[in-house]
Amino acid sequence: MKQLHVNLFEMACVSHIVHGMWRAPGNNRHRYGEMDYWLETAKLAERGLFDAVFLADVVGTYDRFGESNDAALRGGVQIPNLDPLMLVPAMAAVTKNLGFGVTFSTTYEPPFAFARRMGTLDLLTKGRVGWNVVTSYLKSAAQNFGLDDEIPHDNRYAIADEYMDVLYKLWEGSWDEDAVLKDATTGVYTNPASVRSIHHTGQHFRVAGPHLVEPSRQRTPVLFQATGSPAGLEFAARHAEVVFIGGRTTEEVRHNIATTRQRAVAHGRQPDDIRFIVMAGIIVDETDALAARKLEHYRNYYSVEGALVHAQAEIDLRHYDVNERIGDVLLREGLSFGNMGRRFRPEQTIGSALKQIASFDEGRFFVAGSPDTVANQIENWLDVDGIDGINLRQYHSFDTAQDFISLVVPELQKRGRYRTAYTQDETLRERLFEAGRARLPTQHFGSRYRNPDNLKAPAAPLFSSLPFSKAS
Ligand SMILES: Cc1cc2nc3c(=O)[nH]c(=O)nc-3n(C[C@H](O)[C@H](O)[C@H](O)COP(=O)(O)O)c2cc1C
Repeated sequence: MKQLHVNLFEMACVSHIVHGMWRAPGNNRHRYGEMDYWLETAKLAERGLFDAVFLADVVGTYDRFGESNDAALRGGVQIPNLDPLMLVPAMAAVTKNLGFGVTFSTTYEPPFAFARRMGTLDLLTKGRVGWNVVTSYLKSAAQNFGLDDEIPHDNRYAIADEYMDVLYKLWEGSWDEDAVLKDATTGVYTNPASVRSIHHTGQHFRVAGPHLVEPSRQRTPVLFQATGSPAGLEFAARHAEVVFIGGRTTEEVRHNIATTRQRAVAHGRQPDDIRFIVMAGIIVDETDALAARKLEHYRNYYSVEGALVHAQAEIDLRHYDVNERIGDVLLREGLSFGNMGRRFRPEQTIGSALKQIASFDEGRFFVAGSPDTVANQIENWLDVDGIDGINLRQYHSFDTAQDFISLVVPELQKRGRYRTAYTQDETLRERLFEAGRARLPTQHFGSRYRNPDNLKAPAAPLFSSLPFSKAS
C-alpha cells in the first residue's frame, strides 16, 4: 500500500501563498526572520515524521498589480524574503532525519558557485537535501541580474539544461569515490589522480573545475521541479526525480502523470523513477463541523488584494463587471494575458476568478474536515489520482502543521498510509525511493559523467533545435 510523502511548504517570508493570514491570532509568520522560528519549524516537522521542509523562493518582486511594489510590500507578499539556502544548516543542526528542499533558479547565477553551495549542504547534512529547480518567472527578477526583460520561456529551459550538465559534471564526475584518502601516514589527504577538471565549454557556460567539495552522500541533491509547459515537461523527463503536478480533475492529473512517465521512459528512465507530488490545502479539526468553522475563521483574514498581487494581475478584478471575461477586459485595457496565465484562464469570468480567489483556491487538492474525512480524501489522491505525496500549504504557522501531525498523521498511520518512524541514517533520495538509492540511478542522465570519458564528449542538448535569443 502506498504511503503518503509529506513536505511542509514554507518560504522565508511573511506571506507565501495564503495571503493576509499572517494577521490571524497566534500566527507566527511575522517571526520568519528569527532563527528560533526555523528551529521550531524543523523540530515540529521532524516530530511529524515529514519527509522534508520545502522552501520556495523568488528573486524579484511582484510589481504588476498597480504597476508597483506597493501592494506586495503592504501585504508582505513574498517580500521581505530571505535566502532559503542559508536556513538549512540551522534547521539541520536541530534535527537528525528531516530533509530539506530548497528552491534555486538556473537563470541568473552561474552554476559553479551553486554546485559548491549545494555540495556543502549535502555534505553537512549527510545527504538530506533536495533542490527545486526553477527558471524564474518575474521580470523584476531579470532586472535584478542585469537584464532588461525575462529570457523567453523555452530558452530558460535550454539554459537550465546546460546548467544541469555543468552540475552533474561537478557533482558526479569531478571526484572519484575513493579520492579522499585522509592518510596521515603518507601525508596524502586527497589522491590527485582521482580528482579531475571538467573543462566544460558550452553555449552559455565555461567552467574548468575541479569541483571544490568532496563527494557527499547523494552527490546530486534530489531534483524537484514544477512544470506544466511542453519545454518544462521535456526538462522534467530528463532531469526531475520529483515533479509537482497540477490538474483540475482526476483525469487531468492522471494524464499529466502518465505523459511525464512516458517522456521519462523515452529518456531511458524507468516509469517509477519520478515521484509526483501536489500542493495540498488541508484544514482539519476533531469533527467536520469544527473544521468548517476553522475554515470560515481563516477566511476572515484572507486578502484578495494579496492574491491579486501574487497572481500578477495587472488589473484589479474587484473593479469590473463580474460577468465579463478576463481576456476581454485585458484586451480592452490594451494588456496581454501573459502574467495572469499562471492562475487564470482568459475565458474565465471576473466573477469566477474572484470566487476562486476568495474560496482559498481550494481546487482538486483541498480538504477541510475531520481526520476521517481528510484521510479518506488523501487515500483518494494516492489511489485514484495516482500522486505520491503533498507539499502541505500553511494557513497558520504552526497550527496547520500541528493539526496535521496530531489529527491526520495518527489516522493515516492506522490505515498503513504513513511511516511510524524514520529509517535512521537514510538520505532524502532513499526516503523517496528505496534503501540503497542514495545516488542518482544509473539510468538517469546525470550519472553518465561518472565515466570520465563522457566528460570529454559533449552532451546532446535537450533542445537542440531551439533558436536561442535573449530578446523576448
Ligand atoms: C508547488 C509549486 C512550487 C513552486 N515553487 C516555486 C518557487 O519557489 N519559485 C519559483 O520561481 N517558481 C516556483 N514554482 C513555479 C514553477 O517553477 C514554474 O514556473 C511553474 O510551474 C510553471 O512552469 P512551466 O512554465 O514549465 O509550465 C512553483 C510551482 C509549484 C506548482
